[in-house]
Amino acid sequence: QHVLGFLWLMTALFLLQYTDKEEVVLWMNTVGPYHNRQETYKYFSLPFCVGTKKTISHYHETLGEALQGVELEFSGLDIKFKEEVMQTTYCDIELDKPKRDAFVYAIKNHYWYQMYIDDLPIWGIVGEADENGEDYYLWTYKKLEIGQNGNRIVDVNLTSEGKVKLVPNTRIPMSYSVKWKKSDVKFEDRFDKYLDPSFFQHRIHWFSIFNSFMMVIFLVGLVSMILMRTLRKDYARYSKEEEMDDMDRDLGDEYGWKQVHGDVFRPSSHPLIFSSLIGSGCQIFSVSLIVIILAMIEDLYTERGSMLSTAIFVYAATSPVNGYFGGSLYAKQGGRRWIKQMFIGAFLIPAMVCGTAFFINFIAIYYHASRAIPFGTMVAVCCICFFVILPLNLVGTILGRNLSGQPNFPCRVNAVPRPIPEKKWFMEPAVIVCLGGILPFGSIFIEMYFIFTSFWAYKIYYVYGFMMLVLVILCIVTVCVTIVCTYFLLNAEDYRWQWTSFLSAASTAVYVYMYSFYYYFFKTK
Ligand SMILES: *[C@@H]1O[C@H](CO)[C@@H](O)[C@H](O)[C@H]1NC(C)=O
Repeated sequence: QHVLGFLWLMTALFLLQYTDKEEVVLWMNTVGPYHNRQETYKYFSLPFCVGTKKTISHYHETLGEALQGVELEFSGLDIKFKEEVMQTTYCDIELDKPKRDAFVYAIKNHYWYQMYIDDLPIWGIVGEADENGEDYYLWTYKKLEIGQNGNRIVDVNLTSEGKVKLVPNTRIPMSYSVKWKKSDVKFEDRFDKYLDPSFFQHRIHWFSIFNSFMMVIFLVGLVSMILMRTLRKDYARYSKEEEMDDMDRDLGDEYGWKQVHGDVFRPSSHPLIFSSLIGSGCQIFSVSLIVIILAMIEDLYTERGSMLSTAIFVYAATSPVNGYFGGSLYAKQGGRRWIKQMFIGAFLIPAMVCGTAFFINFIAIYYHASRAIPFGTMVAVCCICFFVILPLNLVGTILGRNLSGQPNFPCRVNAVPRPIPEKKWFMEPAVIVCLGGILPFGSIFIEMYFIFTSFWAYKIYYVYGFMMLVLVILCIVTVCVTIVCTYFLLNAEDYRWQWTSFLSAASTAVYVYMYSFYYYFFKTK
């Protein structure tokens, strides 16, 4: 962490300093509708024209940027540090019919474009329609005001002026001007103006966290009370039965979880998938924990795509966790095809994520969206999977099998499985699974609202402290819920607790997924 922080500081100190008249690059990034941040196209997919300045080396994007559809292209504008530029025309758009139609479509859909100066994002609106929606106007004059503090750029404001009506077969001159101002903003604080504390640190957010905390305390109290009291009662009942002689015991009506003691350590059904899922879950948990902690320390949002790059790096590095827990669980369950388990465990999540991304990629290519992932990036991701994730997973699996692969259960497994008795409908595993996810979902859905908002709207999520708290709350609630679910299931003398316990917490994901549909259709435009 210190090395990372130090490197970052060094970069900030040396790379982002300018000398007078040094070239400052204005990068054009994307255009897209204001109401959906995820739908982006290349800036020059609209028939904008490029400035006259040609020579610029290509921008090298990071892995995270490539995956998030960042498409930096040089604007061709001539900007030099601390050099004022009066309004200058940098190119003309020859507006023919197709070009006009493209602009009209963009204006109708409230397209915004995004640019970068010195890593600072700048947003501007493409154009405007008049009230009756007949005439369309393009903003043609980009007025840039750049704040400098010492030899660093700390602030950029863009004002769009020069409204020009879109008439076919005309020439539209595009112009820009640059004004430099002294600014007191500190370099470290230059991203603060993009954050929205009144939204993210709203009273509702604090209140919901407080609420969830109350729920956790209540739930933990409830669980420990129920378990303590019922378990004590159960033990008392069982020990009384113990005192009766064999004759009575055979006649006595034993019931409850003790009946299944010879079956609870029976391997789960589909142990291969089960242990792969558990291993992957352990890995995801450690990735979330580490990435959130890094984000809390490091302000990862200030650099494009650095969050995603970090997450990929941490995911690859934590592969041994996956192998260890998946492999040892599989060995404990008596599985023999451990190589197959290792492959499935290692590639379960990468395959699902890449499969989804592949599918989205087709759509992106079809619509010429900038999300389309370049071929080189795909190869890079595959290389990470095969040459980093797989070997690390192998190490973890071997460690797991050897260190904790021995089954050490407190009682023997009966040779013949016990029949599962009839039970009330709400004790069926399927019902328990569906109900189990409600409480964990209830403890996180407000946070999901903020996350979805930053995903689809132009708001930068930066309150990772909140996210950390919510993660902790989610873990505690999940643990409580699965304990209670398992207790109920075993008490109904159903010994298939492994999958029920796993799925009763996993159903939270289904609720979150459904909530994302609700959010998309009813909360966004
Ligand atoms: C940009 O706009 C904000 C708010 O209007 C202002 O406080 C700031 O000084 C401006 N920065 C520059 C460089 O003009």
